[in-house]
Amino acid sequence: MILTFTSIISILLVLISGRYIVSPIIKLTNATKKIRKGNYDVALQVRRKDEIGQLAASFSKMASELEKSEAARQEFVANVSHELQSPLTSMQGFATLLRSETLTEKEQAEYLAVLSEETMRLSSLTKQLLTLASLDQEATLRKKETFQLEAQWRQLLQMTEWSWREKELTMDVELEDVIYTGDAELLYQVWSNLLTNAMKFTPKGGIIKIHLYEKANEVVVEVADNGIGISDKDKAHIFSRFYKADQSRLREEGSIGLGLSISKKIIDLHNGTICVESKLGQGTTFTVTLPRINL
Ligand SMILES: Nc1ncnc2c1ncn2[C@@H]1O[C@H](COP(=O)(O)OP(=O)(O)O)[C@@H](O)[C@H]1O
Ligand SMILES: [Mg+2]
Repeated sequence: MILTFTSIISILLVLISGRYIVSPIIKLTNATKKIRKGNYDVALQVRRKDEIGQLAASFSKMASELEKSEAARQEFVANVSHELQSPLTSMQGFATLLRSETLTEKEQAEYLAVLSEETMRLSSLTKQLLTLASLDQEATLRKKETFQLEAQWRQLLQMTEWSWREKELTMDVELEDVIYTGDAELLYQVWSNLLTNAMKFTPKGGIIKIHLYEKANEVVVEVADNGIGISDKDKAHIFSRFYKADQSRLREEGSIGLGLSISKKIIDLHNGTICVESKLGQGTTFTVTLPRINL
């Protein structure tokens, strides 16, 4: 009697454990195999609240994150290819034109200028891509030095003087004597991008205000312009890689759309924040805040 009874109980237990433990694990294993083959569509029905349910839930979440990052990677590669392709196509076209013997000297000079412009565009694109790649690998700041932010800004203003003078822009500059510890080279890139953006997107005769000051335990840099501004719709995307508002108009200005995403990464590495305030047609203000602590 006892023997039969225990046998029945054991068989029942084995069946129950098979149903409740083994079968979800088999499902998970199959889902893993699917993901390995690049298929992220693994719908796991999870109604259970126990450990296995939690495992299945976090597995589904991981699958959807993987899918997102794979999509982002593909979009990035597509963008890079496109950005590389367009200058190359135009360079090839102009090189062919230059070979024709009936060109006037003026035409020749014109085509050569386009060629050199496109080469510069390619060079700046690859430089920015390299910067992004090296920033992607950095989790914390590698190089730290103490330097004068004010002197850095003065240098930048001097370096860009010819272009803002040419565009007849007024520079309203207020720089406090601020010393900061961080990666000077990377921060210079941030300021340079914010300033070039302000100059690029402000029509002739506009005003650019630069304010560097210290507040409690923070260093604040504001770059404001009275240029074309950014719409609310675009504001949400300008820090994304390759995002440009109004594509066609900016193509000739040499926009790539990587500057702000690089800047954001650099500011993140310094545990700071970068934010934007803008009204379409009225102007834009970028504010960078760098904490002195946590570095
Ligand atoms: N000061 C500004 N005024 C208006 N629009 C701006 C300004 N700064 C950035 N933007 C918008 O954000 C986009 C992304 O800027 P950025 O990442 O620096 O790329 P890029 O300078 O190569 O266009 C720009 O194409 C532009 O549409
Ligand atoms: Mg830029």
